[in-house]
Amino acid sequence: MAAQVYVGMSADLVHPGHLNIIAKAREYGEVIVGLLTDEAIASYKRIPFMTFEQRKVIVENIKGVKRVIPQKTLDYVENLEFLKPDFVVHGDDWKEGVQKQTRQRVIEALAQWGGKLIEIPYTKGISSTTLHQAMKEIGTTPEVRLKSLRRMINIKPIVRLLEIHNGLSGLIAENIHIDSPHGKKEFDGMWASSLTDSTAKGKPDIEAVDVSARMTTINDVIEVTTKPIIYDGDTGGKTEHFVFTVKTLERLGVSAVIIEDKTGLKKNSLFGTEVEQTQDSIENFCNKIEKGKQAQATRDFMIIARIESLILGKSVDDAMKRAEAYLAAGADGIMIHSRSKTADEIFAFCRRYNSLENRKCLVAVPSSYSNVTEEELIENGINVVIYANQLIRSAYPAMMRTAKSILVHHRSQEAEMDMMRISEILELIPGGK
Ligand code: SPV
Ligand code: MG
Repeated sequence: MAAQVYVGMSADLVHPGHLNIIAKAREYGEVIVGLLTDEAIASYKRIPFMTFEQRKVIVENIKGVKRVIPQKTLDYVENLEFLKPDFVVHGDDWKEGVQKQTRQRVIEALAQWGGKLIEIPYTKGISSTTLHQAMKEIGTTPEVRLKSLRRMINIKPIVRLLEIHNGLSGLIAENIHIDSPHGKKEFDGMWASSLTDSTAKGKPDIEAVDVSARMTTINDVIEVTTKPIIYDGDTGGKTEHFVFTVKTLERLGVSAVIIEDKTGLKKNSLFGTEVEQTQDSIENFCNKIEKGKQAQATRDFMIIARIESLILGKSVDDAMKRAEAYLAAGADGIMIHSRSKTADEIFAFCRRYNSLENRKCLVAVPSSYSNVTEEELIENGINVVIYANQLIRSAYPAMMRTAKSILVHHRSQEAEMDMMRISEILELIPGGK
């Protein structure tokens, strides 16, 4: 029997480096490719451009590939122990960085049956990361951006969104990242908050910033980013108007709208019962969801129903009754909101919601219960977490401090240490020179 050679890869943006590895592997025996599943890739970097099925068809047709099997985690060991291959072939670029430990585990697994790791020099000048960077510079299309949210919800343990209110905050949501032991960590997309857009415009969060003005903000963000956007649709306005908002959002490439089940003059939810707020009837709100769903032109756009029962001092029972009705009306998901200091009432809702037969994605906005961790949210079944207002809440105090300092010192020098340098702001946005 021919020797068996195992090659693990994502093969999302196939390039000569992949072909080189497979050609080298073929010299040692029959090549079995362990193709990382979408979930495995998303666990340590961005979601793949192509689905597992699409990538599988491509790899199966590369010369020298005998068979393609799924590799469900970044870790090779499960597949290796099942196949007990004679060789594993990999580029030598994994000796450092996120994959260092994966490599060590491969070596240890192979040692159990005398298998060997063959490392071949990394093909210089090309990698999926550089290709991805180049693609980012070209940008994206409305269709690709719109679809990406549903894909993320399906394959990521939690989708993490950051508030945006202008182009600059969009750039932060797009680009900020950290290197963690589990790979690059970043925000998956953006929340077009009504609170922060209104605040940035110096207006209260009462739907006083009209839809046209909100769309101008969205356009500014879209121009400089590629990640998916969820639009905070407030109450959705009149049903007859909401259908046009849905069409406009789809045209722009926004992935989803969240509308809240309130009626009359909307006030911010975090006021709770301190202000007069009226919850819509189940019947009216279901009608709005249905009309919105009928208006959409694509299959991928999502209308998510936001339940204000807990905000208004009502019970988890009431919230559940509404969740069931809104899902039956066609909502693509539920956002459950709370202004409690702890996540207890949210989790009480989650426990009941998770057992629904018709369960769809669940969104949480931990602004008042900011002590909750993403791990706890995942454990309780939350699919999307929204950091709804943190950028503007941190920017405003910094700007106030600087403005005051100028008044106190009759000059700006004392504020210099809190500010970025002039050379830095000039270079911050490329293309200015
Ligand atoms: C927003 O960010 O505008 C929201 C969330 O709707 S909240 O402010 O908590 O109502
Ligand atoms: Mg809002």
